[in-house]
Amino acid sequence: MTQELWTEVDRYITDLLVPTDHVLDATLEASNAAGLPPHNVSPNQGKLLMLLALIHKARTILEIGTLGGYSTIWLARALPTDGRLITLESNPQHAEVAKNNIAQAGLAHLVEVRVGRAIDTLPKLATEGYNRFDLIFIDADKASNPDYLAWSLKLSGRGTLIIADNVVRNGYVIEDDSNDPSVQGIRQFNKMLAMEPRVSATAIQTVGNKGYDGLAIAVVTSDD
Ligand code: SAH
Ligand code: DHB
Ligand code: MG
Repeated sequence: MTQELWTEVDRYITDLLVPTDHVLDATLEASNAAGLPPHNVSPNQGKLLMLLALIHKARTILEIGTLGGYSTIWLARALPTDGRLITLESNPQHAEVAKNNIAQAGLAHLVEVRVGRAIDTLPKLATEGYNRFDLIFIDADKASNPDYLAWSLKLSGRGTLIIADNVVRNGYVIEDDSNDPSVQGIRQFNKMLAMEPRVSATAIQTVGNKGYDGLAIAVVTSDD
């Protein structure tokens, strides 16, 4: 079983269940034209994020790692008309591209892109009084995932859904002696999920046009 087959099956699923969407296509074209790396979630993963937000009836969403706003747009589409999504991005150029894409998608009234390192912008959210996002999507620099989980818990309440992308990384996640800071960040993140009494979590492996990776999902089960 090869990358080629995973890509073909992804295409089959996407052609069948994720109809061509000019707004999202334009988002990827603009991101690509601006030289952004192709690190966005795939279309069927984006739709999964939207469906999870819909199932959860999320009204407030926090995203860590915006890139060109592709996952942002999928998530924001699940929000009610008075919903709110705050997305954190350290690269000002990425943030500019994202803001434009989000505006083109007609979602600017629901989405706020905050520029800065997430480790600096997360504490500010807390001081502003944000204390309970319904859904948090972690998808920035993987080495910081432990910090992002700690902040996510501070910005969560009972029922908050925390989703993290890229938790398998071609299987490198099982290398306990890896000297890749991303792998160590993900390992520490997974361990924190395991040891944290306030969450119930699992992770699944995924294959597709982005290769072999995985998604972690956690639900906050208590308020303290
Ligand atoms: N969620 C996006 C992909 C995000 S790629 C999607 O699926 O469409 C990861 C993004 O995190 C990049 O844009 C990168 O610039 C940003 N990033 C990296 N380090 C960061 C940090 N310390 N704080 C905030 N954003 C960061
Ligand atoms: C990378 C980051 C991502 O969030 C992703 O989904 C794929 C790749 C990366 O930094 O290589
Ligand atoms: Mg990712």
